[in-house]
Amino acid sequence: MPVIVVIGAQWGDEGKGKVVDLLAEEADVVTRFSGGDNAGHTVVNRYGKFKLHLVPSGIFSPRATAIIGNGAVINPGVLLDEIGQLNQRGVDTSRLFISDRAHLVMPYHVLLDGLEEESRGGKAIGTTRKGIGPAFADKIARLGIRMSDLLDKEVLRERLHFIIGGKNAILTKVYEVSPLSEDDIYNQYCRYSEQLSPYIRETTIMLEEALKRKELVLLEGAQGPLLDPDFGTYPYATSSSPLAGGGCLGAGLGPTQINQVLGVFKAYCTRVGSGPMPTELKDEIGHLIRERAHEYGTTTGRPRRCGWFDAVAARFSTRINGFTRAAITRLDTLDTLPRLKICVGYKLDGESIDYFPASATALDRCQPVYEELAGWQVPTSDIPQFDQLPPLARQYITRLEELVACPVSLISVGMRREQTIWKMAIL
Ligand code: IMP
Repeated sequence: MPVIVVIGAQWGDEGKGKVVDLLAEEADVVTRFSGGDNAGHTVVNRYGKFKLHLVPSGIFSPRATAIIGNGAVINPGVLLDEIGQLNQRGVDTSRLFISDRAHLVMPYHVLLDGLEEESRGGKAIGTTRKGIGPAFADKIARLGIRMSDLLDKEVLRERLHFIIGGKNAILTKVYEVSPLSEDDIYNQYCRYSEQLSPYIRETTIMLEEALKRKELVLLEGAQGPLLDPDFGTYPYATSSSPLAGGGCLGAGLGPTQINQVLGVFKAYCTRVGSGPMPTELKDEIGHLIRERAHEYGTTTGRPRRCGWFDAVAARFSTRINGFTRAAITRLDTLDTLPRLKICVGYKLDGESIDYFPASATALDRCQPVYEELAGWQVPTSDIPQFDQLPPLARQYITRLEELVACPVSLISVGMRREQTIWKMAIL
């Protein structure tokens, strides 16, 4: 059985929660490998509708072990709330495990995320203010506190004591706000330690054993490649890698073990937060897409910026992730539109280009070059098979498939599991 990496292929929110939930029925292990509770994965299944932030979307599978990998950062309070809510609604979380190498989001991270955003003024990134950027910055600066530290109260005390002085100096001297109490944080995190310790494991061994048994392993990403700190619209980016390659680093296995890379694309584009988005529609059509698909952030409730499918960005995403299969979600959102556009190139300062520029200011100056297609104007939400889709919808998918340069495996036409059209098997 293979290892499949499932990632969003644009700016996040492509609906990979649903795709992972579907595939997880067959999976033995599902590992979430990046991000933190900045992510929001919506899943609708027999238990109801859920908005997951940290727990892998595979938690609903009766057989899968769900792992939060070392590549994620974890706010323990948020995770415990999420576990509590899942349990209350009858979802078993006894097969949930957390890597002992995963870093903790601390109260000063959350506070600093907000203060840093305020200080950026008009250049604010539009972060989710969940402390994710500061937590990853501390990981790289070797000032992080990890799940393994939480298991040893003396180590926890020592690490916190070592770090808090510097954080309080920044809070009081740079931002002129009150310092945080080391004792309060320590006591709170000791309580978290007691609640979370049953879940904390050396999870790379669990993965290795699953691979030896030839089980199906899913690696679940968060956000999308266009928010990657290397390849995304830097500095309007997130702080951990949403790329397929991030799956190896954030779960703890090697590139030779990956068999399939599934890129989940929305049939159009959305983005939350600041930063360039060449195909953004600030008109009636953008509004219509947002309201029809309820394009509001799962984590922050912010309206998502909506626009036409950007094939330049999509092709770039395929290049840097090596997609072997694509999923196209929310096709049904476009059902009512008489005309559709796909961005097939950019004009940058009067020159035609077909690549995604590194510079966010250059990308901001890019004017989309569109190809127009007729809309199908037929409801697609209840169509079970590809050949039953209206010809114009098939034509749209086929054109996306050509532009993205990757075979489409599945098409999602609604939130429910059964609203999925399989075009080509993944397994
Ligand atoms: P941060 O990850 O909270 O630091 O936010 C950095 C950027 O990533 C902001 O533009 C956020 O809106 C965006 N972002 C973070 N998480 C998600 C997500 O799950 N979906 C879409 N955008 C996200």
